[in-house]
Amino acid sequence: MHFRDTLKINGKGHLEIGGADCVDLVWEFGTPLYVLDEAHIRNMMRAYRNTFLEEYNGNGTVYYASKVFCCKAIYAIAAQEGIGADVVSAGELYTALQAGFPAEQLCFHGNNKLPREISYALANGVGTLVIDAYREADLIDAEAEKLGRVQNVLIRINPGVEAHTHAYVQTATTDSKFGFSVSDGSAEKIAAYVLSKKNLRLKGFHCHIGSQIFEKESFVIAAEKLMDFVFALKQSLKYEAETLNLGGGFGIWYTDDDAKIGCEGYSGYLRAIIGTVKRKCCEYGLRLPHLCVEPGRSIVGEAGITLYTVGAIKEIPAIRKYVAVDGGMFESPRYALYQSKYSALIANRADEAPCEKVSIAGKCCESGDLIGVNINLPKAETGDILAVFSTGAYHYSMASNYNRNFVPPVVLVKDGKADYIVKPQTFEDLVRNDVIPDRLK
Ligand code: LLP
Repeated sequence: MHFRDTLKINGKGHLEIGGADCVDLVWEFGTPLYVLDEAHIRNMMRAYRNTFLEEYNGNGTVYYASKVFCCKAIYAIAAQEGIGADVVSAGELYTALQAGFPAEQLCFHGNNKLPREISYALANGVGTLVIDAYREADLIDAEAEKLGRVQNVLIRINPGVEAHTHAYVQTATTDSKFGFSVSDGSAEKIAAYVLSKKNLRLKGFHCHIGSQIFEKESFVIAAEKLMDFVFALKQSLKYEAETLNLGGGFGIWYTDDDAKIGCEGYSGYLRAIIGTVKRKCCEYGLRLPHLCVEPGRSIVGEAGITLYTVGAIKEIPAIRKYVAVDGGMFESPRYALYQSKYSALIANRADEAPCEKVSIAGKCCESGDLIGVNINLPKAETGDILAVFSTGAYHYSMASNYNRNFVPPVVLVKDGKADYIVKPQTFEDLVRNDVIPDRLK
């Protein structure tokens, strides 16, 4: 089992996160509960930011990828740490603005931004929009004209890099709904088109090659391909990009099959990208571009755990043992979607060695509602507190009210102190938007 500095077992044999005893957290906040370790989040944001400062004269921007975990408090932390954020919907943008996040530090993505989302982004002064379709170039240009402004934009490029990750989260192979391919000339065509627009300032290019990627080589190849493209464009269009955004995608630890990267290791990914860009600029005689990355999972993933109470236990001899908890696919959808692997332990007996492999079942009415399979645990008993690791990313943000279960609250812990950053839902929340039309009465 992988334990970070702020995740440990205390003298009572209880799991501790950010100095808070998980048994006390459950006593105070109940289960299921998402818990995030503030120090871990800040350390990761700093690691990326400092790497740009130390290795690239600060000529880089870290955009926190909001989609992994979005609520007002995370934007407050990102703002304090001096990093930007990417948003992919009006809802994420609204949340950032509500948190007082500086709009010019936002980058707006998406393969099909709605006209109303584009107007909303421009009206609020979003710093950069990433163009992913001709229609978007037209809409942003028209909106900027209305406002009497020139809008900074990037174009999303599909460099055709195949990253080693789950097929569902690959985004930059040739068959992708995202971006303009370099190989078929469409990237060059859209660049010429955007350059012809009066109210758009083409700052450069963006790519994102996938998520939960460990191979440094994938990022290096993507950076090389983007630089080759920048050079080709300088030859053909006499346009030299000022900004390159390499997206996110750095992998995290879920089980001992995964590497434990750590702050230094994540800096290493960024150093490899920076090194590649410097080398290519030298080779091609290009100016060093402003570099951006958009890490998400690596910032909050390992910072999070989910705490549950064990309920029913069902053993099917010679087949498997189900340990059911008070959560499920409504708050932990990644097993159902991607067959993702997790590690867990019993937080109130965290010092006990595992002795069996179990499947952790949720409480939703479908057989596929599992949180994880083949999880090593000591013998679980009803009433135990189960802690599942690395749930900070793509859990709360992908949660739903399926089966009209509550989306669990989120607490942020620091130096043993825990505060809600997302409050619990109530029954009233569940029916808030329900209407019975008169004809049904
Ligand atoms: N930038 C862009 C344009 C992205 O599409 C993504 C993630 C990121 C940055 C952040 O990537 P990260 O550093 O978190 O890997 N729901 C899936 C993952 C979907 C990834 C979507 N894009 C999961 O739970 O594994």
